[in-house]
Amino acid sequence: MLTRSLGKQGPRVSALGLGCMGMSDFYGPHDDAQSISTIRLALDQGVSLLDTADMYGPFTNELLVGRAIEGRRGEVFLATKFGIMRDPADPAKRGVNGRPEYVRACCDASLKRLGVSYIDLYYQHRVDPAVPIEETVGAMAELVQAGKVRFLGLSEASAQTLERAARVHRISALQSEFSLWSRDVEADGVLAACRRLGITLVAYSPLGRGFLTGVIKRPEDLAEDDFRRHNPRFQGGNFSLNLQLVERVRALATAKRCTPAQLALAWVLAQGDDIVAIPGTRHPARLTENLAALEVDLSAADLQELERAFPLGAAAGTRYPPAGMAAVNR
Ligand SMILES: NC(=O)c1ccc[n+]([C@@H]2O[C@H](COP(=O)([O-])OP(=O)(O)OC[C@H]3O[C@@H](n4cnc5c(N)ncnc54)[C@H](OP(=O)(O)O)[C@@H]3O)[C@@H](O)[C@H]2O)c1
Repeated sequence: MLTRSLGKQGPRVSALGLGCMGMSDFYGPHDDAQSISTIRLALDQGVSLLDTADMYGPFTNELLVGRAIEGRRGEVFLATKFGIMRDPADPAKRGVNGRPEYVRACCDASLKRLGVSYIDLYYQHRVDPAVPIEETVGAMAELVQAGKVRFLGLSEASAQTLERAARVHRISALQSEFSLWSRDVEADGVLAACRRLGITLVAYSPLGRGFLTGVIKRPEDLAEDDFRRHNPRFQGGNFSLNLQLVERVRALATAKRCTPAQLALAWVLAQGDDIVAIPGTRHPARLTENLAALEVDLSAADLQELERAFPLGAAAGTRYPPAGMAAVNR
């Protein structure tokens, strides 16, 4: 398994991790037994980086991951997140919280649900505009000192927030959406700040929440309660325009003798060896397909062709509905 450093001189993690969110939430029906098999297969194949969060479920995804890794803690680089509050009775309601006492309570609760004595990488899921980042990261740093957490990360944080956070404690990872159709971090200075500060970009939704695989052909392919039905890129005219872009990627994938999913992942990994990707799947066969992206070698000419087929900013629609966009710290 190809590994990459998490932060400068940081620990090595698998260049492709496994995103576990969709195993419990957001993307329609799920099957815990199959998801557990998928996680264990990932470990068998050398994937170390597993990604979850307390708000996935809410809470049930951490329980699931905890069950899957029982007896295999040493093989896992376990990442989880705090900071988005959800009420299990009404999961659509959201809040962000970066207060120190909340950080401490969340960490203890995550450790318990995951059934582990430490978290390898602990992220603030969304920056709380009401709490100075120094206070939140200060509380996270205390968790490192207490041995409950090994490394710190932020998610969807701005360049300026990263600079301020890094003055309090070393930040090893910044998790943001990054894929052929979500390249905001290149334009808004976040990727440049990561590079200045020696922070690894952990690319979430590297398959465009499944869209870039070409498997989703119509909005109706998604379950009624699937979160993506509310995502502007999966709606009406945007859906059709985006599908045309994916069809161009499919043509290039065919020429490269790989699948569109593999090409999308290979593109992310080719953007720098300070980037790792955490594609999500609930299916063992798709996990195997995605891991084979590590064997797809993209030449400079291939990358140029991909750039022409799917130019920067070409995707129609924003990557979240308005409330989600507002929660991104820019
Ligand atoms: N920090 C944040 O705010 C944030 C936000 C979103 C996600 N994340 C993290 O990032 C991880 C990955 O992102 P994501 O799950 O949103 O999106 P993704 O990895 O871009 O795509 C996942 C979707 O693609 C499908 N898929 C995966 N491999 C496939 C293949 N080879 N062929 C066809 N379909 C395939 C999956 O369906 P099946 O499961 O049915 O295979 C799932 O619906 C999440 O699990 C989560 O841990 C973080």
